[in-house]
Amino acid sequence: MNKKLIITIDGPSGVGKSTLSKLLAQELGYLNLDTGAMYRALALAAFRAQIDSQDDTALEKLCNATHISFEHIGDTERVLLNGEDVSELIRTPQISMLTAEVAANRAVRQAMVKRQRELAVEGGVVLEGRDIGTVVFPHAEVKIFLVASSEVRGRRRFLELQARGMETDLARTVSDVEARDLADYSRDISPLRKADDAVVIDTSELSIRETLEHILAFVEQKQSQLTEG
Ligand code: DC
Repeated sequence: MNKKLIITIDGPSGVGKSTLSKLLAQELGYLNLDTGAMYRALALAAFRAQIDSQDDTALEKLCNATHISFEHIGDTERVLLNGEDVSELIRTPQISMLTAEVAANRAVRQAMVKRQRELAVEGGVVLEGRDIGTVVFPHAEVKIFLVASSEVRGRRRFLELQARGMETDLARTVSDVEARDLADYSRDISPLRKADDAVVIDTSELSIRETLEHILAFVEQKQSQLTEG
């Protein structure tokens, strides 16, 4: 019987993490945990309460008073903020930018990491984010780090926003992606970084299916090592 693994998928925005972790989780019959959605939901709560992203005390209070959860309806995953479905509201460019600021706060990261560990403690989970392989689950059995050029990632985000009916332009989306990269890579606490033992996959020239095949092959290899060992 296969062990229920913890699989981490980290990387910058627009690299394909969400799509791939969803498909990977479906393929393996695992739970999928989109940790970016948790930071986004908290940023939305901060926006509504008009809390400044530098106000540590207010953000800490907000974390304690906020319940973020997920609901699975068929194939779709909904993000709930204190029971309210905010799945669409957390994806606007404005909330995306605010999320990068809110996610740099120490109290916010502590609260989110604690919740992520609780949600994934049983194993059999694919978690996607920025610090999953380095901070949240440094002992995860499978760690993937996805990369792609900012042009490719910006274009993917642009098409995604268009498909959601949001007004945007390509150049602006690429520069937003680059601004968020800078914030994610350079923040003091839990910056976006590849874990030493993560496998790097460049998705610039790969289709989703091809990338998924790479990851599945790696998971299979890990499973047989664990069974033999
Ligand atoms: O993956 P995403 O674009 O939904 O993430 C939204 C923001 O949250 C992004 O700026 C990075 C941040 N984030 C983080 O700091 N740590 C995570 N584990 C996941 C997301």
